[in-house]
Amino acid sequence: MASNTILVCILALCFSVALASVVPVQDFCVADPKGQALVNGVACKDPKLVTPEDFFFSGLDKPGNTSNPFGSKVTSFNVAQIPGLNTLGISMVRVDYAPYGFNAPHTHPRASELFTVLEGTIEVGFVTGNPDLRHFKKVLNKGDMFVFPYGLIHYQKNVGNGNAAAIAAFNNQNAGMIPLAATMYQSQPDICDEIVARSFQLDQGFVKNIQSKQ
Ligand code: GLV
Ligand code: MN
Repeated sequence: MASNTILVCILALCFSVALASVVPVQDFCVADPKGQALVNGVACKDPKLVTPEDFFFSGLDKPGNTSNPFGSKVTSFNVAQIPGLNTLGISMVRVDYAPYGFNAPHTHPRASELFTVLEGTIEVGFVTGNPDLRHFKKVLNKGDMFVFPYGLIHYQKNVGNGNAAAIAAFNNQNAGMIPLAATMYQSQPDICDEIVARSFQLDQGFVKNIQSKQ
């Protein structure tokens, strides 16, 4: 009997912890970037000091500057830009692509992504984990949506004739972004060139050369 009671208590505790991580326990907890407390997220600002500006950000209509080697630009709208997103588990990005521009393969360690094309024609794809490594890809047009499941490596490429743009929503206030190539070539200190070369089955001198240019 006692052990049943303990089991019920443990289950109730687990359930409440699980709920706590997805359902806010107050109307808002606007991020206070100056807060000293170390919490999972950002400490709350005094609710009396919260203003409408804390929930506002303008500029989603402005294309990002795509003059870079990738021909694409990701503009983030997360808790760093909109303090009112703190603890709410959502955020967005706008992505712009020049003709032939692409968003290099990357993952978001803390979110799934819902990608929507605003303008142009964009090829998108993601790859499942081991052992299958299945590649799902599709060409999207204006108004089309595509899901990149939690943590999977994905990419986009502008395959239309003009510029392209998209917005994407994440189920995390700070989805994080791990770029595959940059992780291999630009980490500090370097991942040993032998490991990178053997992983990608490349010549070690070639890898050393790329790493030295970063
Ligand atoms: C697109 O996949 C992005 O995360 O910017
Ligand atoms: Mn992404």
